Amino acid sequence: MNLKGIQITWLGHSTFRIQTPEGNTLYIDPWIAGNPMCPESEKNVKKADLLLCTHGHGDHIGDAVEVGKKLNPIVVGIFELCLWLQKKGVQQIAPMNKGGTQTVAGVKISMVHAVHSCGIQDGDQVIYGGEACGYVLEFSNGVKLYHAGDTNVFSDMAIIHDLYAPKIVMLPIGDLFTMSPREAAYACKLLQPETVIPMHFGTFPLLTGTPGELQRLAPYVEVMELKPGPTIS
Ligand code: NI
Ligand code: MN
Repeated sequence: MNLKGIQITWLGHSTFRIQTPEGNTLYIDPWIAGNPMCPESEKNVKKADLLLCTHGHGDHIGDAVEVGKKLNPIVVGIFELCLWLQKKGVQQIAPMNKGGTQTVAGVKISMVHAVHSCGIQDGDQVIYGGEACGYVLEFSNGVKLYHAGDTNVFSDMAIIHDLYAPKIVMLPIGDLFTMSPREAAYACKLLQPETVIPMHFGTFPLLTGTPGELQRLAPYVEVMELKPGPTIS
């Protein structure tokens, strides 16, 4: 895996911090304060130029409002989710929908499908949050990666490969609320990446899938198991 100057830090679950070639800091699915996997040293977010939200569940947007208000990043999400975040005080939203592409903070962002739900828990209510999605990111150095969000495997992953061909893919493997390693191994056949970074596992005892199991079922890809905290570049 050649990141050509990009830095990726996994904060546990589906939360990633990425530093772009231009030095911008982006967070995908910012769930920090309540994330049991997130290292203490990462809990005070000091810089965020861009937030990407895959869907409205608390374990994906848990800190989107707080970080959005404190550091004023541009927040990308599906239309309805962005409107809700704006209502909660997020200043800069860049809403989009599936099939769309926009360049924000130097990153070319394509929103793609995900098979999952997207209700937003707001106090004692669950609010319609649009649909769950994934993102294909293309950086200015040519590196392309796909963050699948929460999803089952779906046949249109073959289209994601045909259209965007991301070499690095972040796939949920925990089972129960997303794919398990079995479905993720099938997803790898459709996506044909070089490297898979597993996510959404081990956060709670219920999320039982493991990177080792995925590697056993998908010997045709490199499964890169990250630890929360250390940065890879
Ligand atoms: Ni979810
Ligand atoms: Mn989730």
